[in-house]
Amino acid sequence: MAAADNRAVGFKREIDPHFGTKAGHIGQEPEQWSSMDAVPPISVATTFKQLAPTETKYEYGRSGNPGRDLLERCLAGLDDAKYGLCFSSGLGALTAIVSILKSGDHVLCVDDLYGGCNRFFRHIASRFQIESSFINAEDPEKFAEAIKPNTKIVWLESPTNPTLRVWDVETICKLTKSKSKDIIIVLDNTFLTPYFQKPLELGCDIALYSVTKYLNGHSDVIMGSIALNDQKLYEQLLFTQNSTGIVPSPIDCFLVNRSLKTLHIRMEEHMRNGLAVGRFLEKHPNIEKVLHPGLPSHPHHQLALNQWSGCSGVLSFYHKYGLKESKKFLQSLKVFMLAESLGGHESLAEIPSLMTHASVPAGDRVKLGITDNLIRLSVGLESANDLIEDLDQALKNMKDR
Ligand SMILES: Cc1ncc(COP(=O)(O)O)c(C=O)c1O
Repeated sequence: MAAADNRAVGFKREIDPHFGTKAGHIGQEPEQWSSMDAVPPISVATTFKQLAPTETKYEYGRSGNPGRDLLERCLAGLDDAKYGLCFSSGLGALTAIVSILKSGDHVLCVDDLYGGCNRFFRHIASRFQIESSFINAEDPEKFAEAIKPNTKIVWLESPTNPTLRVWDVETICKLTKSKSKDIIIVLDNTFLTPYFQKPLELGCDIALYSVTKYLNGHSDVIMGSIALNDQKLYEQLLFTQNSTGIVPSPIDCFLVNRSLKTLHIRMEEHMRNGLAVGRFLEKHPNIEKVLHPGLPSHPHHQLALNQWSGCSGVLSFYHKYGLKESKKFLQSLKVFMLAESLGGHESLAEIPSLMTHASVPAGDRVKLGITDNLIRLSVGLESANDLIEDLDQALKNMKDR
């Protein structure tokens, strides 16, 4: 069923046939607990008894915890990676990675980053003399020309937020590594999860996630994670995780581990519902344009089909009117909730220009197409017909009669 849906849309990459098994088993062997728990126990201890000084597996809750450990192993497994690390948020994961740089280093970013990442590079990293540039990656050659002798990280997000642009990640990675093998390529894969896109397979060094979104999927945990293969880089980031203290709580680790068991099923349903909503919106007279990479109308549809094995439930659209109508539309919704975030079981709607991307400088927002008639939807797991009816009534209501 899953494979048939994904093939019917035209996605060329295969869905990992063992994904659900990995999510339910990696790191979770009952034999590792003396009580043989079928479900990993939550260890809330902040410190651990040592049989003799340093003779212990765990020392202190910040530097390691059994529940975090197993989650990190499981997340690494889902990305077919050797190592995984969890952080207290997606931005925490970004902070840890940028912490390995020094003043004078440069980060080359795609120009359409999540607003919070953009804000971090412009307002925090810059205070430590870490330079960043934001370049459109439509033409991978031109993007790679922006690599400088001091570029240490190439920061990608694909698809982008909120305009769902898709970059040719494989080509960007090849061009970057041809300039310098030492440049670390990060792909923020929050929107697709390892179920639908495998960053390391595409040539990236680090897959990064706001676990807060689809990986947890129940809108009740803030967390970030990374998956990677390079041992030296892992050790550096493990040291950073402990030294900066950007760690998640044991209870959050438990919740995420529990959520991962249904990730593959949820992603299939998000894809189905997102496509149904996108197709409905494309035919609506009040809509100017739908941005959904899984639909043939999207300018990067072919790229998405080549690089991904499916798409999520995030899409955006431009309606034909202005800010007043955007507000009226959002306030008329009854099933969709007017709220930031995405990737949860519940459908959400927001206006990026006022909400998630308000921190992007106004001029850049216009260049990126983040205008007041752009609405972003995170299509959840409710019944597709109810979602479509809700959008239909809100679109009818948006314009004063
Ligand atoms: C693509 C993307 N990356 C990173 C983040 C930051 O994650 P967090 O909110 O968990 O810090 C977000 C949050 O919305 C996001 O959408």
